[in-house]
Amino acid sequence: MNVLITGNSSGLGLGLTEALLEQGAIVRGLSRRGCPLKTDRHDEFDDVLRDELVDLGDLNKIPQALESVLSDAHRLDLLVLNAGVLGKIQPLHQTDVHDLEHLYRVNVWANKVILDWLIESALPVDQVIAISSGAAVNMNYGWGGYSLSKASVNHLMHLYAEEMPETHLMAYAPGLVDTPMQDYLCGDVDSGDFPSVQKLKDARGTEHMPTPKMAAQRLLEVLPILKANYPSGGFVDIRHLD
Ligand SMILES: NC(=O)c1ccc[n+]([C@@H]2O[C@H](COP(=O)([O-])OP(=O)(O)OC[C@H]3O[C@@H](n4cnc5c(N)ncnc54)[C@H](OP(=O)(O)O)[C@@H]3O)[C@@H](O)[C@H]2O)c1
Repeated sequence: MNVLITGNSSGLGLGLTEALLEQGAIVRGLSRRGCPLKTDRHDEFDDVLRDELVDLGDLNKIPQALESVLSDAHRLDLLVLNAGVLGKIQPLHQTDVHDLEHLYRVNVWANKVILDWLIESALPVDQVIAISSGAAVNMNYGWGGYSLSKASVNHLMHLYAEEMPETHLMAYAPGLVDTPMQDYLCGDVDSGDFPSVQKLKDARGTEHMPTPKMAAQRLLEVLPILKANYPSGGFVDIRHLD
């Protein structure tokens, strides 16, 4: 199985990388810091793990990074558009529009550039999972920029499903996952000001917020179900999966 994962230096992307490598997949990744397994477990994964350091917010650099990391790939069984940033939890009217531009570049437009490159290169891709969030539909107070960007990710998958008829694309909300993204939400954000984060604080350390590896394994388990039971271009939240 040939897989490309964006943002596999930490959190869910790293959990997915580890779980896929253990299943015998060949994994390629894009991130700024690089996948730590490349150095930590060098002997084990040298031939099957390859990554390229790139800032996905720098859209012009993405095609070159793809050319390099996919130079020997003839097809992809799975592309996981996972890299994402949260931004600050704050009222939207106090959020600088330039911060939103950056957030959109990483969370939305980088995904478009990657899909465009794959179409242009005629590299067959079987399945695309764009990591979305419950925030794409909840629109809770303070989550403005992130919510808007994840709603756009959902729509991006819908639109590209028309343009990539041979590929099955889905936006997927993984539920709460105990990653570095939660350090800020559960640590720095005041639930008095932003009540929606209380649920996250309560969930941390419980089964309601699994580890990245557990969330990754759950995603890998449901991949065939998503492809078989849901139309390409849709959005599914793991918490509402039939
Ligand atoms: N944690 C949750 O509860 C939760 C819930 C719903 C959805 N999600 C979504 O899950 C995805 C993964 O997040 P996470 O929770 O695993 O957070 P994380 O640990 O902070 O991981 C984010 C990943 O995105 C990469 N990334 C961020 N900015 C980048 C940039 N400019 N260029 C390249 N890569 C960049 C990071 O790599 P570098 O820093 O090395 O560049 C990192 O590998 C995100 O899309 C997030 O919105 C998370």
